[in-house]
Amino acid sequence: MPSNIVVGTQWGDEGKGKIIDIISSRADVVVRSQGGNNAGHTVVNNGEVYKLHLIPSGILYKDTLCLIGAGVVLDPKDFIGELDSLEARGVSTKNLKIDPRAHVVMPWHIALDGLSEAFRGGKDIGTTKRGIGPTYMDKYERCGIRVYDLVHPDVLAEKVQSTGKLKNKIITEVYGGEAFDLDAVTAEYTEYGKRLLPYVDDVSVLTFDAYKAGKTIMFEGAQATLLDIDFGTYPYVTSSHPLSAGVCVGTGVGPKVITNVIGVAKAYTTRVGKGPFPTELNDEIGNQIREVGGEFGTTTGRPRRTGWFDAVIVRHSVRVNGLDSLAINKLDTLANLDTLKVCVAYKKPDGSVTENFPATLEELEGCTPVYEEFPGFTEDISACRSFDELPENCKKYIARLEELVGCHVSMVGVGPDRAQIIER
Ligand code: IMP
Repeated sequence: MPSNIVVGTQWGDEGKGKIIDIISSRADVVVRSQGGNNAGHTVVNNGEVYKLHLIPSGILYKDTLCLIGAGVVLDPKDFIGELDSLEARGVSTKNLKIDPRAHVVMPWHIALDGLSEAFRGGKDIGTTKRGIGPTYMDKYERCGIRVYDLVHPDVLAEKVQSTGKLKNKIITEVYGGEAFDLDAVTAEYTEYGKRLLPYVDDVSVLTFDAYKAGKTIMFEGAQATLLDIDFGTYPYVTSSHPLSAGVCVGTGVGPKVITNVIGVAKAYTTRVGKGPFPTELNDEIGNQIREVGGEFGTTTGRPRRTGWFDAVIVRHSVRVNGLDSLAINKLDTLANLDTLKVCVAYKKPDGSVTENFPATLEELEGCTPVYEEFPGFTEDISACRSFDELPENCKKYIARLEELVGCHVSMVGVGPDRAQIIER
């Protein structure tokens, strides 16, 4: 049975939630392997709207096993909030498991995220301020607190004291912030640990067992390729590996478990946070795309920056993720624009042209997009359910995107509803 990975191919918010929801409705197991509550997606199920940040969307299907892998950073307070709101709406969480190796977002991580962003002044990253970067810093510094520790009160008390003392020193002496009362933190997080205990299990083992039993597995990516710590637009990135390869280390399974990698892109480009964005539209067209596409963040509510489809970016994603196919979302948002532009290559300051996404920000900053233009479409495509029903100009647009990025487009999104998808 297939094991599918779904990854974002741009800067996030490609509408992965919808594709993940369609694929998870056919999966026995859904796994999250990196990131934390910086992610967010909205799932509409039987007319009910669910906003999920940490819990895999498979939770809405009563028999689906939902796993949170070792590579995730877990904010227990937010996680419990999500559990409560699901249970209050009659959604069972009994099939949910968290790996004991996952790192816990502590209150000082959130404080340090805000303090370090303020310290960077105009050079801030524009993080979601959920403590993601500082939690991963502690993981790699090897002083983090893990889910195992959280559910063992003696271990937790000892680690809160030892790590907390250092964090308080940094917060007060480096940033002039306020120290945490470590006894109060221990008491609060011990309670969270009690609540989390029944959910803790070895996700690597559970995933491998499911694979051996021939189950259908879906690995749901959070964030996206250009937010990858190595292959994204560093330093304007997140602190994990949202690439397909990140799934294996973040879950604890080998690459041969994976049968299919699906990338999700929008028919245009958006990003939140700071950093270069070659095809950005700071004009009326950019506003129209933002308003029609409802481009405002699920997690922070921030308006997203908008721009034309950038084939250089998606080509990069096809390579670094080893994509088998691509889902192109929100084609409907581009209706009523006279001309559609697609960036096919970048022109460098020395006049040469490249089709490859530059390795560094310094090189990217000097690049200007080389555009190809396409006639737009005015038809309402929201009711189209087969590729043949699409207007000719849409078909040509999608066919050219396939050529430019070197990947088959297997799905086209024509509206927000789960049914508004064309599968090829
Ligand atoms: P952090 O992940 O909160 O550290 O934020 C780092 C960068 O990643 C910022 O530009 C965020 O806006 C961006 N980011 C993090 N998570 C997401 C996401 O799920 N969608 C889009 N952007 C994200």
